[in-house]
Amino acid sequence: MSELNVNGHFEQIALDDDTILVDVLRDQLNLTGTKLVCGSGVCGACTVLVDGKAVASCLMPAKAAVGHAVTTVEGIGAQGLHPVQKAFMALDGLQCGFCTPGFIVEASAFHDRWREKNGTRTPEREEIGTALSGHLCRCGAYDNILRAVADACKGRFDGEVPSAPRVEAYDKVTGAARYTVDITHEGQLVGLVLRSSVAHARIVNLDLGPALKIAGVKAAISLLPEEAIIRHSGQAIAAVAAIDAATAQKGLDAIVVNSTPRPGVFGLDAAIRPDAPEVYPGRKSGVANVSEGAVAPAKWAGNLRGPSAAFSTRKRKALSRIEEAREKKDPLLFEGRFRTGTQQHTSLEPHAAVAWFDGEKLTVHVSTQIVSEMRSKIAKKFKLVPENVRVIADHVGGGFGSKAGLTTETEAAILLAQTAKAPVRVAYSRHEELSVAGYRPAATIEISLLPGTSGAMKALSLVARSDGGVAVNSTIAGLARLIYTSEASNLADFDVVSNLPPGSPFRGPGGPTMAFALEQAIDEVALKMNTDPIDLRRGWDRNPNRQRLYDWAAGLECWKDRASNRGQTGRFRRGVGVAAGYWLYLWQPGTKIELATENHRLVVKCATQDIGTGTRSVLAATVARAFALEPDEVEVRIGDSALPPGPGSGGSRVTASVVPPTLIAIDKLKARLRESSSPAPGSNAPWRDLIGAAPDIQVTAERPEDDRKTIYGHTSLVHEAGLIGRVFGFMARRMMHVAVGAGAPSSVQVVEVEVDTLLGHVRVPAVHTGIAVGKLAAPDLARSQATGAVIQGIGYALYEDREIDPRTGEVLSVGLEDYRIPGIADTPVMNLHFDEGGFDHVLGGSVGIGEVSTVPTAAAIANAIRDAVGVRPTEAPMQPDRLLALFTRELTA
Ligand code: FES
Ligand code: FES
Repeated sequence: MSELNVNGHFEQIALDDDTILVDVLRDQLNLTGTKLVCGSGVCGACTVLVDGKAVASCLMPAKAAVGHAVTTVEGIGAQGLHPVQKAFMALDGLQCGFCTPGFIVEASAFHDRWREKNGTRTPEREEIGTALSGHLCRCGAYDNILRAVADACKGRFDGEVPSAPRVEAYDKVTGAARYTVDITHEGQLVGLVLRSSVAHARIVNLDLGPALKIAGVKAAISLLPEEAIIRHSGQAIAAVAAIDAATAQKGLDAIVVNSTPRPGVFGLDAAIRPDAPEVYPGRKSGVANVSEGAVAPAKWAGNLRGPSAAFSTRKRKALSRIEEAREKKDPLLFEGRFRTGTQQHTSLEPHAAVAWFDGEKLTVHVSTQIVSEMRSKIAKKFKLVPENVRVIADHVGGGFGSKAGLTTETEAAILLAQTAKAPVRVAYSRHEELSVAGYRPAATIEISLLPGTSGAMKALSLVARSDGGVAVNSTIAGLARLIYTSEASNLADFDVVSNLPPGSPFRGPGGPTMAFALEQAIDEVALKMNTDPIDLRRGWDRNPNRQRLYDWAAGLECWKDRASNRGQTGRFRRGVGVAAGYWLYLWQPGTKIELATENHRLVVKCATQDIGTGTRSVLAATVARAFALEPDEVEVRIGDSALPPGPGSGGSRVTASVVPPTLIAIDKLKARLRESSSPAPGSNAPWRDLIGAAPDIQVTAERPEDDRKTIYGHTSLVHEAGLIGRVFGFMARRMMHVAVGAGAPSSVQVVEVEVDTLLGHVRVPAVHTGIAVGKLAAPDLARSQATGAVIQGIGYALYEDREIDPRTGEVLSVGLEDYRIPGIADTPVMNLHFDEGGFDHVLGGSVGIGEVSTVPTAAAIANAIRDAVGVRPTEAPMQPDRLLALFTRELTA
């Protein structure tokens, strides 16, 4: 036995040479505040202090810590919160919170060093960025983290614990918040998944017997589809549950798999060659779905599926006008081809599930975006009575669209738990997370834009080919329908299917990709017409929300000064670009809110989840405002399918789904309180007193179904109500569980860049984001959501790309060292402008913010690069090698 000093306690632990410190902390000492994300020293989530110095516990042999003092996040908050913890709470330096303990540990050490040396002098942003550069936050909470650390160093949080806009912030900054990967039951087994090393094959024999003979292996199951065909590298074949990970791995290694290989084809270009092997020959059943909507019927030609052209208007007219302009060499016609890369969701908490059966009853902790819906999906898939299934997700470490379905980790955990008759946890490795957990598909977009003189484009054609691997149903080009007015349009979406893992919805699915092409085309046309790009958009885009945002953008100093960027010749050149974006206003019918007084407190309940987007705080703030309380005086119960049904976190629909029924429930509860409290009905006693004196009362409210009609009928939102109504009607039929309301959440972004023409680097010093999503249900959290979305947009624009072996289809981006996401030092100065009008027809006036804030970012950066250097980048991510090749080609031509 060895003695470890952890948080001032001496613990006797059995250690061997291979034991890593993070495993001891999490698995043996139950200090789950220390998170394991990358396992390779890249992300900082596992940071602890050893004798006061920050180290990555995922790289440290536990034996090396013997004789030293180890402090985890739990130890930092133990004697009263550290100023850094208080600052993170007050300034909302977190979202999902999965990275937060690592940031807290490192930032507290930085703070203490800084204060000792500098007193209360405020560190520069760059100094904080350098100190925290070993930490990654996929939610992009960096802007608030920088502000929090600066203010803590300044001494602003040396006193009382402040109130926090995010109601669960205390649990997240102290490491107390429990995520699915932190759940451990008595006798819990470790489940691992055997994945295919080949991309295309038919499995002719799968023998699980040898695995079951290994001591410690408790279950082995097949995960093969009925047809036993493997269609991509990494596809699940089988799973094993064992007493620990090493034994489970031995079990996987022992499984015998015999297969007949089939030829594979990988990526957009190869899959549509005439001799390409077909991925789905014959009947197209069981094809994976890349979208949030139901799979629409479509034609197939080999591996090419589509077009889906339901969003086109006067398609033939559009094509003939473009052809005519091409023949006449119309100088105003812009035609271009754009290409975007694959973006991985990379949530810091991996996909994970812990399943256990108690007789007929199944409880599953899942890192999911769909607590309510997951219950019915599980019940259907495993033929269980829905009432016997309970899904729990107390805290979810990010999702961004990738956790909106019943996926392998959950299926495997349930089947293994059923077979082993014991609780089983299956959590993806970072490699699985980066290879088989979904991604925003790469795409090519061919665009032709012919401007008109009548306040509309004369013709627009977008043809998108999406690279979603084995998944189909992408919509990229079709999204162009709802932003600018065109007299005629051809908007065609194709899926190019190949033997790559399936794509899945990612924050504003199709939106950033569409904008990357369309918003650059608009800028090119503005250049051809010698007109201001904002003015041109203002003329073609009649949405009143964006009209106000265009006015705001046009008034920005950097926009007004951008003429000074002309004619730059040095190595570093500055540019300014603009782009607009929209998203749909979605909400989920059937959402119910229960509001109750329990033990003289207000409690609000809903089977929805908080993936970092602030659901708890939106509910708490909505209720608290109505009763003149502080948000932390309201108890919020979510993350449990046993509660009244709630919305999934997808399509920015949670706020728009939960706020209206909460407001209805508030009215009902107020009436009941007035009736039942001791003060006479109609008295003006404060709500606090009425709640305190009231017996337990419970009310439930649901948003009326006919709300949808009311919203459709609202005329001030759309310039062509009939036309938009038809489009929404069409979309509503395609969406699952979701209603589409009128009015588009909107965003206009102006981005400043600095381009290094020698090395091809692009720096983004400032982003100005105008957002119109109605009234902000929780303003501080809205700020965090918006800046985080911009940071993900910067990643999409400049850094993020998945590498594939073109011969085998294997994903080569195995860890966060291979897949670059933005770090804290990439954070620009964020200027946010919220326009709170435009959604008065929505009860409460609030719609979702998560998607719309990321749609225009990559396009605005591209337009800024064009402004800086005079050449147009057509391929994202706009990495240095691509830009240098472009500069060499264009600037020296
Ligand atoms: Fe240790 Fe990422 S988990 S640095
Ligand atoms: Fe940082 Fe979610 S808050 S990863």
